[in-house]
Amino acid sequence: MTGRTKARVATGASAGWVNLLNFGMLGASMEPNAAGELAIEFCAVSYVLPGGQQLLSGLDLKVQRGETLVLLGRSGSGKTTTLKLINRLLSPSHGEVRVNGKSISQGEVIRLRRSIGYVIQDVGLFPHYTVEQNIGLVPKIEGWSSERIRSRTQELLQLVGLEAQLASRYPHQLSGGQRQRVGVARALAADPAILLMDEPFGALDPLTRDELQREFLSLQQGLSKTVVFVTHDLREALRLGSRIALMEAGQLVTVLSPREFLRSTVPLAAAYVKAFGDGPSVAAHRGDS
Ligand SMILES: Nc1ncnc2c1ncn2[C@@H]1O[C@H](COP(=O)(O)OP(=O)(O)O)[C@@H](O)[C@H]1O
Ligand SMILES: [Mg+2]
Repeated sequence: MTGRTKARVATGASAGWVNLLNFGMLGASMEPNAAGELAIEFCAVSYVLPGGQQLLSGLDLKVQRGETLVLLGRSGSGKTTTLKLINRLLSPSHGEVRVNGKSISQGEVIRLRRSIGYVIQDVGLFPHYTVEQNIGLVPKIEGWSSERIRSRTQELLQLVGLEAQLASRYPHQLSGGQRQRVGVARALAADPAILLMDEPFGALDPLTRDELQREFLSLQQGLSKTVVFVTHDLREALRLGSRIALMEAGQLVTVLSPREFLRSTVPLAAAYVKAFGDGPSVAAHRGDS
């Protein structure tokens, strides 16, 4: 029996991630799309490099609390730049980014980052830290005791379907899928209300990717975190997103629900659907709401 299978058995038939609810540690009472509840807002945001190259222009975007907003666009369209503006790895050249109704340029950057989990492809884990040290990074900064960090790590490993003994391994001793699971566990460690995920499943084989997508959906249905999820894969966007924000050349083209996207006459959206053939409609199981 593999570690994953064991974890499944241990936590019931559904994905282990849902078990976060049972620990009562996450904001399960958060209402998705509650009226007026904006988690993140971009107001006329532009980002220009010091040399003058404009990476983003006139971005207006609202992310509701509890939704999974997918940023979809080809490579170089400005998705990662948009994410980095949310946790202030970058600051807008013009306009304003708000989190929970407040401009983030005013507050303390460290506090902001601790309230936002960040999952990135490949380079997310520190190679010279064990799995437990990686997961415990933010809790340690927050002053948690090593005992509390250890028990939280064990909880999170189970949650993302990994065996307890992986805690002492180093990232190079894990498979790609295991590393991504650790990346998700680390992002969830201090229970942030917002998760930023930058092509988190992009480098995985199709079966592992499918598995992680399914687990992500279970997690999200149970917990309703506010998630901004970057992908260039329409299939993934349709499957995971409550809404899809389509980007091209540093601009927001349109924001649509998965169903709206499939029948959209916006030329770029229609081009995506055409490029993916008949497949995506099968994946678009989410409603218009
Ligand atoms: N620091 C930088 N210096 C120069 N060009 C950059 C820098 N950061 C990003 N870019 C360019 O800006 C564009 C948008 O980048 P990015 O937001 O990473 O796109 P995406 O994530 O959609 O692939 C790309 O053309 C990229 O090469
Ligand atoms: Mg990117």
